[in-house]
Amino acid sequence: MSRKLEKHLRINIERAKYTHLYHRSHVSEQFRTLRTNISFLGIGHGVRTIMVTSASQGEGKTTTLANLSIVLAQQGKRVLLIDADLRRPNIYKMFGLSNEIGLSNVLSNMSYVENAICNSDIANLSILPSGPIPPNPSELLSSNTMKEIIDEVKDDYDIVLFDTPAILDVSDSQLIADLCQGAILVIRSGKTNRDNAIKAKEKLLNTNARLLGVLLNDGNPKVLN
Ligand SMILES: Nc1ncnc2c1ncn2[C@@H]1O[C@H](COP(=O)(O)OP(=O)(O)OP(=O)(O)O)[C@@H](O)[C@H]1O
Ligand SMILES: [Mg+2]
Repeated sequence: MSRKLEKHLRINIERAKYTHLYHRSHVSEQFRTLRTNISFLGIGHGVRTIMVTSASQGEGKTTTLANLSIVLAQQGKRVLLIDADLRRPNIYKMFGLSNEIGLSNVLSNMSYVENAICNSDIANLSILPSGPIPPNPSELLSSNTMKEIIDEVKDDYDIVLFDTPAILDVSDSQLIADLCQGAILVIRSGKTNRDNAIKAKEKLLNTNARLLGVLLNDGNPKVLN
C-alpha cells in the first residue's frame, strides 16, 4: 500500500472510531445524544434492528454507524454490526478485521453465521463483515436466508445495526430496510443534494422500517447555530 493510501486509511479509521479514541470530545458527546434519541425513539420501544443509509455515496454512513455502534457498546449493550454493503464494504477495514468470511459467505450457504461473526477491539461490539464481494448482492440480500440470519442473531444481541449502500444507487438498502425495524438517514452538509435527500426519505418511508431520524453529518456548528 502506498504511503498516501495508508495515511488515508489511518484517518478514516480514526474518524470511524472517534468515539472510542476521543471519549470526552464534543463529537463523542453528540454521538451519545444520538444514542439517547435512538433509545427514546426506537430501542426503548423494542426496535432492535436498525439500518443506516444515505442518498448517495460518501455521505458518511459507515463512519456514523461505526461510532453509533461504539457508543451503544460503551453503554453495555451487546451490539452486532453487520456490513450489508456488499458492494463497497468498509467496516472490516475500520476495525482491522479480515474480510475472508462474512455475510456473503453465509448468504451463499458457505458458512454458518456464528462462524462468520468476529469480536472487535471494543468490548460488547461484535462484527459480521461483508465477506468477499459477490456478483449478485441484491439477489443474496432478498433471499430468505437473509431473513433467517436476522432472526437467528436477533436473540443473541440487544441491538443489530446494518451498514448499507446508497439508497438511490441500488435496491439493496430498501431490501434491508424491509427486514429492519428502524432506519436512519444520513445527509452530509455541503454534499447531499436536497432533492436526493427527499427522494431517499420517500424510499425509506416505503419500507417496513420506521424512519427513526435524519442525521446531519459534517455540519459546520457555526453555521448551524
Ligand atoms: N464528519 C466528517 N468529517 C470529515 N470527514 C468525514 C466525515 N464523515 C465522513 N468523513 C469521511 O468521508 C469519507 C466517506 O465516509 P464514509 O465511508 O463513512 O461514507 P459512506 O456514506 O459510508 O460511503 P460509501 O457510500 O462509499 O459507503 C471517508 O473518508 C470518511 O472518513
Ligand atoms: Mg460506507
